[in-house]
Order: sequence, then structure tokens, then C-alpha cells
Amino acid sequence: MSTLYFPLNDGTTIPALGFGTGTALMKQGAVNATKIAVKTGFVHFDTAPMYGTEDQLGAVLDDRSIPRDKLYVTTKFLELKGGETVKSALQESLRKLKLEYVDLFLIHAPLHFAGRLKEVWAEMEEVKKEGLARSIGVSNFGIEDFEEFWSEATIKPAVNQIEFHPYVLGQFEPLLEYSHTYGIRLESYGALAPITREPGGPLDPILSKLRTRLAGTWGRPVTDGQILFKWCLQKGIVVVTTSSKEDRMKEYLAVLDMPDLTPEEVTEIDVAGKKKGSGPAESIGRYKNYVRSRETHA
Ligand SMILES: NC(=O)c1ccc[n+]([C@@H]2O[C@H](COP(=O)([O-])OP(=O)(O)OC[C@H]3O[C@@H](n4cnc5c(N)ncnc54)[C@H](OP(=O)(O)O)[C@@H]3O)[C@@H](O)[C@H]2O)c1
Repeated sequence: MSTLYFPLNDGTTIPALGFGTGTALMKQGAVNATKIAVKTGFVHFDTAPMYGTEDQLGAVLDDRSIPRDKLYVTTKFLELKGGETVKSALQESLRKLKLEYVDLFLIHAPLHFAGRLKEVWAEMEEVKKEGLARSIGVSNFGIEDFEEFWSEATIKPAVNQIEFHPYVLGQFEPLLEYSHTYGIRLESYGALAPITREPGGPLDPILSKLRTRLAGTWGRPVTDGQILFKWCLQKGIVVVTTSSKEDRMKEYLAVLDMPDLTPEEVTEIDVAGKKKGSGPAESIGRYKNYVRSRETHA
């Protein structure tokens, strides 16, 4: 299996396929699945205090079966509570992860920092300068969020992790263009939504046709999920996904060896995705509501 790395705007590189310890694994615990992910060949892991999985990931990675210079770990922070700073939040994450630095540190969402992004980003720059995070970035940010702190930033965000799949392409095209212009690498979560959360849409017949074409070219069975990942990767977008199953993890990693979609096939997926079309910024809005509802019902 080959490994694909994408360059970031700070001179580092990021493995293009990452294993997430949030969403499904928040409820069931991440230890078993992460052990399998390590065994299967993942080297890029995504966590956050909100998932409650940092210590579990730290316990699995502590066996050092992946050398530190091959390992890529991302964590985030959603808010800063009473007296916490960006640095103290990261130090707490590092303690749980049993690491001296993370490869990527993200503001999980702009939600709690409206009007304060300049000062929070300045603190992000400090933790990078101190070597506690190799790269710094954001998640669930829209253009207006970047605009709030961009002019004062001396280090630009390397990454924006957002929900991304063909059914949000229409709403995120301006963000894609903005990210391309300013060298911010997009990372996708929820890439499988067209088959897991929103099946039965205009993409289904296209995926079925492409499965047959790609399987014929490759000489191996191809799944809809692999096509959705390939579509992201060919747009230069990092994919963060997850699974509890070894077979599916192998299937995910095999995408790196799968033949490419042709430019016409990528366009076909784009067009079908935009047909479904969500409202403007619906995905980021949905995330904000999700976080609010978690807080309200906690
Ligand atoms: N920054 C943020 O705000 C944010 C938000 C959400 C997620 N994330 C990160 O992104 C990671 C991945 O997020 P995601 O779960 O939304 O990713 P996803 O890649 O869209 O979905 C992965 C899930 O789909 C299931 N699945 C895979 N193939 C399937 C199929 N053919 N049929 C039915 N189910 C299938 C897997 O379950 P099985 O166990 O059955 O394989 C797994 O639970 C998270 O763990 C987290 O690290 C970040």
C-alpha cells in the first residue's frame, strides 16, 4: 500500500487519509477500532477533547509501533473554560495523548469565539512557535470567520476541517475557491454522507456506473465509499473517516492504490452532487446547532 501526502502552507506534509476517533467511536470507545486501524496501516489519527477519546488514542499509540516521525496526530479545542488558555488546553490534550507535540492543532469551531478570533489565533501562533503543535488550523470555518482574523495573522491557518462530500459541493464552492487562493488545505469529514446519511439521491446511479467501470479497470471490487474518497483526494482534499471494522479500514486504505477517476467522471459526480444542493452554509450551520444541542442537553 502506498501512502499519499499533501503539502501544507507551512512546509509540512499531511497523510491524505486519516482515521477519526470521533462520531461513531465517541459512544462505543475508540481503543479496539484504533488498534485495528494501526495494524491495518493508518498513520494519521484525528481526535478532540469533545470526543472524549484523546486518552484512548494516547494509550493505543503509546506502544510506539508507529515511530513518532511517521505518526500524524490532530487534536482540537472547542472552547476555553474558566482560566484556560489555548496553551493550557493543548497541554492537557498532550498529557492525555502522551505526546510532546501534535502534528496539527485546530480550533474545533468558531462558535465560542465570535469577535475574539484575532486573540485566539494569536495564541494558536504561540503554541506553534513553542513547538507544541507542528501545524495550526481551524475546523468548520466559513469565509466570514477567516475574514475576522486574517489581516492580523502572521501564520496562516494550514487546514480547515469541514463536512465535505458531493452533496455540499454547491454550497462550499466559494469556500473551496477561497481556500485555494490562500493556500488553506481542506480536510473532509462526513465524506460518506451520500451513502450513509443521505442515500437515494442523484449520485446513486453515477456511483453504481463508476463502480463497474473502476472494478473492470482495477480487477478488484470497488465500493461507493472508495469512489467518494477518491473524489475528495483528487480535489486535493484530505479525508478523515472512521470505521469499527477491519475489512472496511482495508477498503479505505486501498483507495490509495485504486485507479483515478477521469476528469469527466469527477465532473459527473460534481454535477449530480450539486443537483441535491443543500442551502447556503447548511452544513456549518448544522454543526453549530449540533454543538449547541449537545451543550443544552448535557
Ligand atoms: N471537525 C469536526 O467538527 C468533525 C465533525 C465530525 C467528524 N469529524 C472527524 O471525522 C471523523 C469521521 O467522521 P464521519 O463519521 O462523519 O465519517 P464518514 O467517513 O462519513 O463515516 C464513517 C462511518 O460510516 C460508516 N460506514 C462506512 N461505510 C459504510 C457503508 N457502506 N454503509 C454504512 N455505513 C458505513 C462507518 O461505520 P462502520 O463502523 O460500520 O464501518 C463509520 O461509522 C470523525 O471520527 C472525527 O474524527 C470531525
